[in-house]
Amino acid sequence: MPKPQVLLTRRIPSAALATLEASCDVDRNDEGPLAPAALVARLHGKDGVICVLTDAMTRDVMASAPTLKVVSNIAVGYNNIDVGAAHELGIVVTNTPDVLTEATAELTWALVLDVTRRITEGDRLARRGDWKGWALDFMLGTELRGKQLGVVGYGRIGRAVAARARAAGMLIAYWDPVFGGESITLDRLLSTSDVVALHCPLTPETKHLIDQAALARMKRSAYLVNTSRGPVIDEAALAWALKNRIISGAALDVYEEEPKIHPDLMTLENVVLCPHLGSATTETRTAMADLAVRNTIAVLSGQPAITPVEA
Ligand code: DGY
Repeated sequence: MPKPQVLLTRRIPSAALATLEASCDVDRNDEGPLAPAALVARLHGKDGVICVLTDAMTRDVMASAPTLKVVSNIAVGYNNIDVGAAHELGIVVTNTPDVLTEATAELTWALVLDVTRRITEGDRLARRGDWKGWALDFMLGTELRGKQLGVVGYGRIGRAVAARARAAGMLIAYWDPVFGGESITLDRLLSTSDVVALHCPLTPETKHLIDQAALARMKRSAYLVNTSRGPVIDEAALAWALKNRIISGAALDVYEEEPKIHPDLMTLENVVLCPHLGSATTETRTAMADLAVRNTIAVLSGQPAITPVEA
């Protein structure tokens, strides 16, 4: 019996690759991102594809490969995949929840500390040679104990960040646009929180959830942290709010048009710009690749997916 054909759009750790190659014939793309036409060409005759969040799995792309049975995303977010179209085409979609929760929560917490204590801002200043020595009023930041963290999106990662914040003595407020749970309305969360952390998926409803009006509702002393998806924030509005001190600062791991960053953000001192590193630890990326491989093998051997994305 011939092995199923699988396209692997990116290099993955060798142990996961070995597991995949033991049960599938693998077409590996070890170069950079595949352009849409190249993706379509390489998908021809494939039973499965293991892809990443920069691969746009549109209806047309998936329909171009009638043999395709599974699209396995190495990410928890799946806004790069037209899930409705996949299901109509009879294709199973899988993602990698849980295994990246702690890494993403750690990175989020690092960004909260960075922006409130001005760590990378101070690093830039020191490297420029502009540090004139210790002074009582030099580069003062904000303490977190007793302050409120507003979590927008109270799923796995939002809760893991809240646990870290509680351990630091913060109070938690949350609002969830997907599951509907809330301890407070979004308006109130925005107007009362000292730090607002975004952990919701990107959907048509959450696109530009944080726009100029939302930013204007926040406290002038507040900070905004985003490790979810870039388009949840209107980046131009955020640049306006930071420039005009409508809020105190922001720390971003994700952007509207990665890897581009709004040019105004690049010039501002009160924003930390991290290049989408939420899940970027060796342990987590290994676990993500492993789960994507296991999902692919499960579906192609007629078993249910381990972590399917529902319609
Ligand atoms: C995800 O999994 O959705 C992250 O953004 C990439 O690690």
